[in-house]
Amino acid sequence: MKKINEIDISNKKVIIRVDYNVPFKEDKITDNSKIEKSLETLKYLLDKNCRIVILSHLGRVKSEEDKKKYSLKIAAKELADLINKPVKFLDQCYGEKVKQIVEESSLGEIIMLENTRIMDFPDKLESKNNETLAKFWASLGEVYVNDAFGSCHRAHASTAGIAKYIPSCVGFLVAKELENLDLLVKNPAHPFTVFMGGAKVDDKIKIISSLLPKCDHLLLGGGIANSFLKAKGADLGSSLATSDEEILNECRKLMTDYKAKIVLPVDFALDDGCIYDVGIKTIDIYKKYINDSSIIFVNGTCGKFEDERFTEGTEALFKTLKESGKTVIVGGGDTVSAVRKFGYEKAFKFLSSGGGATLEYIANGKLDALEWLNK
Ligand code: 3PG
Repeated sequence: MKKINEIDISNKKVIIRVDYNVPFKEDKITDNSKIEKSLETLKYLLDKNCRIVILSHLGRVKSEEDKKKYSLKIAAKELADLINKPVKFLDQCYGEKVKQIVEESSLGEIIMLENTRIMDFPDKLESKNNETLAKFWASLGEVYVNDAFGSCHRAHASTAGIAKYIPSCVGFLVAKELENLDLLVKNPAHPFTVFMGGAKVDDKIKIISSLLPKCDHLLLGGGIANSFLKAKGADLGSSLATSDEEILNECRKLMTDYKAKIVLPVDFALDDGCIYDVGIKTIDIYKKYINDSSIIFVNGTCGKFEDERFTEGTEALFKTLKESGKTVIVGGGDTVSAVRKFGYEKAFKFLSSGGGATLEYIANGKLDALEWLNK
């Protein structure tokens, strides 16, 4: 896999896949960090006098209405403001008209095509990595750059298939993500501690199972910790926890197989008998593990941090991590939002921009879309 600065890209027509799957409310982007993070590669391409055609998905398109709802036009405007240059937005991403407009454009121009997932309704052409679609997108450029880290766990036409037809490489964002996440994936320093929190254990049991053999300690918080406590037989009332028996059995099995590694909360913040956060005694226990670690991966929070009454556990965890001075890598959209909310974005070694992609890479050491790029 080549990095963008390892290939001859000057004056080339470049098709770049970014991840502009940004949150928005009534046509206003509420967090533009994914767009900000793409600027380094885009500016590099402009410096190299490339013609830039941008592809991205936004949301999941399952109906005709979704095609309008998830238009990337808002992202084109945001990018133009951030990069201080016009971005020509095309309201389609496939067909003769697109081809013609792209062909008529000149070097140094930026064009953004409509949401790649409009091709998902009705036939899921993008998500099923349709060859004709991939070939069409490849025909718009001479080089393909994948800088869509957050989408690299999906082998779609725009993230994977396209790379079959033209020379390809990764952009700076993907390269930086891999370099930092490799600290966890390739021979991590030990003791290696994982903090895993968040609402649902069902989504994360796979990654927990794959991390347990590799890490030294697994500290749990949030609904995930509740599910493990429930699996142990604790009566949690109507606190958030899985009721899926298979998952509870898996939790029991993991607690038997990795008894010495799994650490559960011992005190809680309650409302109406329900658990919404961990208590300070728990953080004191976690502090000992954190201070004893070489590297820590953090995914998820200790509780319902969005509610002012339940911020204490998550804030205390971040403070402890910062004060430990250890190498801390944070992954997952909600976790990064919590880090930002409490002002810790500069405190840690790396905040990953991916959600599912980050977890997939840490669990499996590879990402499907990247397997398609030139070696
Ligand atoms: C994300 O936001 O996690 C990525 O953009 C992937 O989105 P997806 O789950 O809809 O593929």
